[in-house]
Amino acid sequence: MNIETFTELPQLQLAVADSFCELVDATLSSQDAFRVSLSGGSTPKRIYEILADRDLPWDQIHFYWGDERNVPHDHDESNAKMVRGALLTPADVPETNIHTVPVKVDDPAAAAREYEALLREHFAGQAAPQWDLVLLGMGDDAHTASLFPGTQAIEETDRWFVENFVKKFDAYRYTLTAPAINSGREKWFLIAGENKRDALAKVWSDTRLPNEYPSQLVEGAKWFVNSDAMPKQS
Ligand code: 6PG
Repeated sequence: MNIETFTELPQLQLAVADSFCELVDATLSSQDAFRVSLSGGSTPKRIYEILADRDLPWDQIHFYWGDERNVPHDHDESNAKMVRGALLTPADVPETNIHTVPVKVDDPAAAAREYEALLREHFAGQAAPQWDLVLLGMGDDAHTASLFPGTQAIEETDRWFVENFVKKFDAYRYTLTAPAINSGREKWFLIAGENKRDALAKVWSDTRLPNEYPSQLVEGAKWFVNSDAMPKQS
């Protein structure tokens, strides 16, 4: 497994930002656009802030969301709001390159269908969206994106993007499905925090159950892991 560990979180964040810039340069040497699916949560926010100061060809980078909360885009819980504030606004990314989830708080199913239609248009002719990069985090329950253990979205194999009711929040989330994550050319997991240790140990082992974590996501992934999240050697 492709794991890079860091003793300090700032080192991890800088390494991801540097790797992102290198991947963009390499990708754009052979194609016109770089399409990335973004992770929400707190771990990537500093990475987005670092990237905002980099001299990247923003007009050739298209931003999508791997998951979103079922709240308006001006809500403090919104991943769109977080990414705009940390990266897209400071970097002056063209609005045409920003593809946010069209949240409909009262009709999440319709919003998910609308976003899926956009993805199928943007990735027309592909069996699943061929992201140049998918950024992913992981919760202490081993969820990634908004594929929470035991929820309906974990089992979805046909749709690319769905609404997902998460009982522990008593709320809907929006998420890419496992096939739509797994089709990414690069899948990077960004993980920090002692509370992730057990989840990571489970995901890296074969003890996980199918409804706990889509096992195919582990294959081919690159792991940027802070030392506080590394499973203890047994
Ligand atoms: C979200 C994320 C989610 C996140 C994990 C880890 O919308 O919250 O997409 O999957 O990556 O919950 O979050 P932290 O990085 O904040 O620990």
